[in-house]
Amino acid sequence: MNNRLETIVDLKKYPIQNLDELSIKDIINKCKSELDNFSCTTIPDFILPQSLKIMNTELEKQLDKVYMSKQNINAYLYSKDDPSLTPNHPKRIFMDRDNGYLNSDLFKKDSEMKFLYEQEELLNFVSACLGIKPIYRWADPLACHAYNVMKPKGILPWHFDSCEFTLSIMIQKPEKGGIFEYCPNIRKPGNENFDEVKKVLDGNRERVRQLKLEPGDLQIFKGRFTLHRVTKIEGNRSRYLCIPAYVLDPWRVNTPEHAKAIYGKVLPIHYERNIKRTDGLAD
Ligand SMILES: [Fe+2]
Repeated sequence: MNNRLETIVDLKKYPIQNLDELSIKDIINKCKSELDNFSCTTIPDFILPQSLKIMNTELEKQLDKVYMSKQNINAYLYSKDDPSLTPNHPKRIFMDRDNGYLNSDLFKKDSEMKFLYEQEELLNFVSACLGIKPIYRWADPLACHAYNVMKPKGILPWHFDSCEFTLSIMIQKPEKGGIFEYCPNIRKPGNENFDEVKKVLDGNRERVRQLKLEPGDLQIFKGRFTLHRVTKIEGNRSRYLCIPAYVLDPWRVNTPEHAKAIYGKVLPIHYERNIKRTDGLAD
């Protein structure tokens, strides 16, 4: 038995250390079906309350190190316009962004979140929920398990993630707003579906779903294929989330442009591993 893991995850409710157990198999089946149909699933009260407090404290102690990015950005996380595209191309729509990260390389060695991310039990559970094997922890040293901070009036506009699979653990909810919205399976490898993406960016709500996430809940979703956003934070309390991520390619990291725009700096690894993606999707 993994002694520290049982102080973080509610293993009585979710015995992820033994995926052969019937109760966890039922949960995995439910998650898999939701992920297949809606690219997203939620596991309520996954993190124990005392562990949530530890995560909250470790983030709050380092709030001064959070990098806030306020650049206007398109859904593919670029801030530079490409005038060679037609004027109504979705890549030419730039949206307000006010969102921050405590980069993963700033986490203390004994960090609660870092520990959880490094556990095989979590990786194997997520892999089973997705029905995809193997998946890997993200090699990006800034982004792999960053804390996300959205301050009052903060906003995260429509976008796709660079990593394939994104987890979210809600740590602190804002008073109002900060709602996660998403458009399931809107693009897939080899098919950007620009027309449908454009409709959503123009305000069409037909494909849009909302997710309610409470502190301690774990959300698993296919962030690379799911257009998503977080609405404006209302009231005085910030929204804290942790975003551990998994990928199909254990080598790839963010592009230097993304690392700079979103995490505020570029490391040598971002230049060394800056090659074209094999799934044919923009990021
Ligand atoms: Fe995202």
